[in-house]
Amino acid sequence: MSRILIKNCKALIQCGENLPNYRSGEQMSELPILENAFLAIEDDRIVEYGSMEEWGGISDWRGVEVIDAENRYILPAFCDSHTHLVFAKSREEEFVDRIKGLSYEEIAAKGGGILNSARRLREMSEDELFEQAMERVRLVNSYGTGALEIKSGYGLSVEGELKMLRVVKRIKESVNFPVKATFLGAHAYPAEYKQDHRTYLDMVIKEMLPVVREESLADYIDVFCERNYFSLEEMTEVLQAGIEAGLRPKVHVNQFSVMGGIPRAVELGALSVDHLEEIADDDIEALKGSSCMATLLPSCSHFINIPFAPARRLIDSGLAVALASDFNPGTTPTGNLQTVMSLACIKQRMTPEEAINALTLNAAYAMDLSEEMGSISLGKRAKLVMTKEIPSLAYLPYAFGDNHIERTIGF
Ligand code: NIG
Ligand code: FE
Repeated sequence: MSRILIKNCKALIQCGENLPNYRSGEQMSELPILENAFLAIEDDRIVEYGSMEEWGGISDWRGVEVIDAENRYILPAFCDSHTHLVFAKSREEEFVDRIKGLSYEEIAAKGGGILNSARRLREMSEDELFEQAMERVRLVNSYGTGALEIKSGYGLSVEGELKMLRVVKRIKESVNFPVKATFLGAHAYPAEYKQDHRTYLDMVIKEMLPVVREESLADYIDVFCERNYFSLEEMTEVLQAGIEAGLRPKVHVNQFSVMGGIPRAVELGALSVDHLEEIADDDIEALKGSSCMATLLPSCSHFINIPFAPARRLIDSGLAVALASDFNPGTTPTGNLQTVMSLACIKQRMTPEEAINALTLNAAYAMDLSEEMGSISLGKRAKLVMTKEIPSLAYLPYAFGDNHIERTIGF
């Protein structure tokens, strides 16, 4: 049995019992904290915590790893519910094109963007893809991420999509924290199907999806619903086929335009709608009273210079918001969720408490991990992060650009 005792914690953050699965609206300002605390872990589960004054000590110290967290905060590991971290190559040439004045959409129209990544992925072996992705996984772990959702979507052929999802499966089997896989065959139309959507849609639905199901390669189905990508009707068709194959929708919507993707995704029982840089009143109405998480990706907005999703408007309308990285070579070449936290506070006017809720409790919900992750609660998995010596919790997003995590615990 493995046992860990963390003592003298400055505070345990997001700590308590019977917490809600997610916080919305005004509740997003609530963040339960236990100061001057200890926490005990047995075999990857949180088994006890309390204040140092109440701590009775332990009678049998054999085999116990003791961590002294004096002046340091302990948080539940961040959950990243939206990434594309399996990819073949970086795309800094597009970054330079944007500096020179081209937009993301203009670069995509001339063969860059997702199709650029698809060409590169075709040339890379499954083993190499896996090795490179694992390096990124270890890097984001060091920034405090202890649960990951990873999408396909750079294969765009039967062989390529399956290759990506098999890499994600290998990642799942190689790490000791939760990983969820999302099938995003409907990410972009390959050049040869630009004029023949039907044939590609059939390939996604009739050729890729049956194997994804057969080999249990995915937990979710995603579509990039956007002008020049997949229309509302096309998204609906792919999501319905995914639902029949046992995959719940988690979708890319409203990045550049409002197309009705949010109300439709809510109708189809989506777990989350992601991006939301462009929002209409109807979208907010559709999300109200639903259990669909609005997932915002501020580092994407920052990197490709597009508007930030209106987090304040969503939260002030009573909605629940999660934050994620969108780690991918085109729009977000970093998976650092501490950067995401800073951007959410600075650019989206989320308070540090709201941002921490959005990266822990709400993010865990957005990847079906409420039972396991997202808070420091008895019985949950012990995936924790310990900060460096920092003066306050608000210092985390305030001192942007530095890594404030001293160590991870349990992963
Ligand atoms: O979430 N918007 C669609 N997909 C990705 C970008 C993919 C790429 O450019 O490689 C995103 O930002
Ligand atoms: Fe994305």
